[in-house]
Amino acid sequence: MSTDVPTTAPPTGATSRRGPLREGERVQLTDPRGRMHTITLTAGAEFHTHRGRFTHDDLIGRSDGTVVTNTAGIEYLVLRPLLADFVLSMPRGAAVVYPKDSGQIVQMADVFPGATVIEAGVGSGALTMSLLRAVGDLGRVHSFERREDFAAVARGNVETFFGAPHPAWTLQVGDLVESLPGSGLSSARGTGADRAVLDMLAPWECLDAVADALVPGGVLICYVATATQLSRVAEAVRGSGRWTEPEAWESMVRGWHLEGLAVRPEHRMVGHTGFLVTTRRLADGVKPPLRKRRPAPGAYPVVDAEDAAPDAPEVTDDDPAAYGVRPVSDKKVRKAARIALAGAAANRAPEAADEPGDAAEEPADASGE
Ligand SMILES: C[S@@+](CC[C@H](N)C(=O)[O-])C[C@H]1O[C@@H](n2cnc3c(N)ncnc32)[C@H](O)[C@@H]1O
Repeated sequence: MSTDVPTTAPPTGATSRRGPLREGERVQLTDPRGRMHTITLTAGAEFHTHRGRFTHDDLIGRSDGTVVTNTAGIEYLVLRPLLADFVLSMPRGAAVVYPKDSGQIVQMADVFPGATVIEAGVGSGALTMSLLRAVGDLGRVHSFERREDFAAVARGNVETFFGAPHPAWTLQVGDLVESLPGSGLSSARGTGADRAVLDMLAPWECLDAVADALVPGGVLICYVATATQLSRVAEAVRGSGRWTEPEAWESMVRGWHLEGLAVRPEHRMVGHTGFLVTTRRLADGVKPPLRKRRPAPGAYPVVDAEDAAPDAPEVTDDDPAAYGVRPVSDKKVRKAARIALAGAAANRAPEAADEPGDAAEEPADASGE
């Protein structure tokens, strides 16, 4: 898809991210205790805490990576924020996609320079910025957000970060399913998008609209917060017949403390952000190949007994087997009870504990999980 950007234009953000610090730029200050403050450089303004101050003019025209000393002698390291820093400190309407997940999305959805990408919803625009960076000035990111107030937050954040409206970005306020057909992105007309990223509560409602707008082979990636959403979107992908077998994962990033010999994982980490599930658009009229690997018995609850294979065990959706919990045999439970009761008896009569029993050989496991 073409854009109006002349190829001689400086790459977005490059000008504003190089050279001396300028008025209007955001800079990040780090104090000796590692506390961070983000300020927008404004001529005549001051940065002050209860322990001294300095004027922004002390920084305007200075080099990135400099150090400024306030009136109390406290030194601050001054740096232009990286995209990851910016995203975590920018104003938010909705929850943002964390940098660790944006990195996974850009990589695993294979978002390439010049690509056309569908994005919904936009929320605060955190992911949008990573997508814009990946497609570059000559790509397209068509973002859809149904809340006007969130769209305004995102627009402000994107323009602050890139220093101007990004030439590859179109932001449309509206529901994706309603707005996408009128966007000009159509697989049938040969104007399909290459990639789609959904970060919303109910991505399964958008699968058909996205399939209509995505080229065959195009990648869809959904970011969802809960396992129930993950399951629902995966089953909807399978059920639609227009997509390849979905794949899902999550990523955990653990920082490390680096201090002399005390080199170890940090005590705290972000435990959970979201799950990613990805799939690719099949060509029209193509049926997904039958899976060779059969689902585990009980992975799908039997809704209608007539649909069940003659030899399939009957499972309902309130059955633990429907959730992948292995059935526990009565024999195993009896054995666990025997071991547990023997342990209790041994507590009551210590001399009985000398009797050999199963307890020492095998831990009781009646959970079946
Ligand atoms: C968690 S936020 C997105 C955060 C964003 N990815 C970021 O990194 O800042 C989810 C957004 O999806 C929007 N949304 C939900 N369903 C939508 C739909 N069908 N069409 C458009 N936007 C939708 C919501 O209004 C909300 O702003």
